[in-house]
Amino acid sequence: MTPDTRTPDSPVAEPPAKNSPDALPISAPGDTTAEDLLLLANRSTLMLKKIRDEILKPEPRKVPPLVSSTRVQEMCGIDRKRMAYALNTTSLPQGTQGRPGGVRSFTVEEAVEWVRAERKPTPRVGRGKVITVANFKGGVTKTTTSTLLAQGLAMRRARRVCHIDLDPQGSATTLYGYNPHAEIEENDTIIPLIQAYVDGTQFDMRTLPVRSYWPNLDIIPASPQLFNAEFMLPARANLAKEGDLRFEQVLHHGLEALTEEYDYIIIDTAPTLSYLTINAVFAADGVIVPVVPDMLSFASMVQFWHLFSDLITGMEEFGDAEKKRFEFVDVLVTRVAPNKAATRVLQQWISNLYGSRVIPVEIPETDLARNTNLHFQTIYDLDKYEGGLETLRRIRNPIDQFVDYVDEKASASWATGVKA
Ligand SMILES: Nc1ncnc2c1ncn2[C@@H]1O[C@H](COP(=O)(O)OP(=O)(O)O)[C@@H](O)[C@H]1O
Ligand SMILES: [Mg+2]
Repeated sequence: MTPDTRTPDSPVAEPPAKNSPDALPISAPGDTTAEDLLLLANRSTLMLKKIRDEILKPEPRKVPPLVSSTRVQEMCGIDRKRMAYALNTTSLPQGTQGRPGGVRSFTVEEAVEWVRAERKPTPRVGRGKVITVANFKGGVTKTTTSTLLAQGLAMRRARRVCHIDLDPQGSATTLYGYNPHAEIEENDTIIPLIQAYVDGTQFDMRTLPVRSYWPNLDIIPASPQLFNAEFMLPARANLAKEGDLRFEQVLHHGLEALTEEYDYIIIDTAPTLSYLTINAVFAADGVIVPVVPDMLSFASMVQFWHLFSDLITGMEEFGDAEKKRFEFVDVLVTRVAPNKAATRVLQQWISNLYGSRVIPVEIPETDLARNTNLHFQTIYDLDKYEGGLETLRRIRNPIDQFVDYVDEKASASWATGVKA
C-alpha cells in the first residue's frame, strides 16, 4: 500500500467547464420539470463518483496514514529513550526508516501494537459500550466527531471498534471512501435487522460489519435506502402485540451480539428525530452531543433537550420497558471560533447550563478541519501537513484529548473487573 501523499491543500477535482457535457444546462426559473430533477439527480450521482475517484487516485480505496515515531511515543505515553530501548529489547514492530538512522514511521497497525504493549489499555470486561453521537441540528460535526472517535479509539487506545452509519445521507460512509448511493446496497446497511423485526424473525447483526481501511475498525455503512426504516418501523409498530419487541428497542436488541465482539460501537445519526435516531439513542450507553457555540445552535438545543427528555420519559411510561439509564450524556463544544467575544459569552452560558456534562476539551474551528472533509478525509488521515505541524497539532491535540477522555470515562467500569 502506498501512503496517501495528498494534503488538504491539494486542489479538489476541478468542476466541469460550462460547455462540457458534464455541465448542467441552466434552466430558466419556473420551468423545472420532474425530468429536469431526475436529470439533476443522475448527474449529481455521476459527478460525485468522478470527484471521489479523482480524490482517491491513484488508489481505488482509501489507505491509512503513516504514524511518526514521536506520535507513537505520545500515544503510548513513553519517551524517546523508552522507545529506543523497546526497539532493541522487544519484538515490537521496528517501523520503517527513510534511510539508516533516519526518522522512523509506523503503519497504523504497528502503532496499535505499540499502544497495546506500552500503554496497556484496560481490557474490556463484559460487553462493549455503545456510544451515540446525536444532535437534531445539522452541521454541528456529528459525522466528523463520530468518525474521529472511531478512528481514535481504534488507533490511540487499541480498541476494537464498529462504526455504524445511521444517517441515510451516508456522510460517515463517504469518509471511509465509499459512495453510499452507488456502492452500498440495502443489505449492507442495518435494513436487514429492521426487516427481520417487520417479519417477526431473528437476524444476527454479526453478519453486517465489514472491515474498513482503518485497522481495528469495522463499519456498517449507510445508503439512501436506510430511509425506508422510517416507514418500516412505525408500520410494524402499529401491529405490535403485548410482549413484542418495541420499535425503539430493535437496534438495542440487535446490538447485543455485537457488544460481545467490539469494545466500542459508535453510532452516527441523522440531524432529525427519526425512528432510526430514536433507536440509536435507546441503544446507547453513552450519548455525546456536539454543540457549536453560536446563538442559533444554542437556541436549537432547547428543543433538543425537550425532545430527548420526552423521548426517554415516553419510553418509561410503558410498564414493561426497563428504565433507561445512560452512563453519560455529555456535551462536546466544537467549532470554537478563535478570539470572538460572542463565542466566549456563549461558551460561558454553555458551561453554566451543562456544568460537569461539558467535556473538558474544546475543538477549535480551523480551515484545516474544514478542508480535510472536502477530500473525504479526517484529521487522523493526515500524517503530516505541509502547512506546518503546529497547524495540524492545534486541531489534532484537542481531538486526541477528546478520544482519550471518552475512553477513560467509558472504560472506567472495566477497570473494576466486574461484568457490566
Ligand atoms: N473543527 C472544525 N473546524 C471547521 N470546520 C469543521 C470542523 N469540524 C467539522 N467541520 C466542518 O463542518 C461541517 C459539518 O460537519 P459534519 O461532521 O458533517 O456535521 P453533522 O454531521 O453534524 O452535519 C463539515 O463541512 C465539516 O467539514
Ligand atoms: Mg452528519
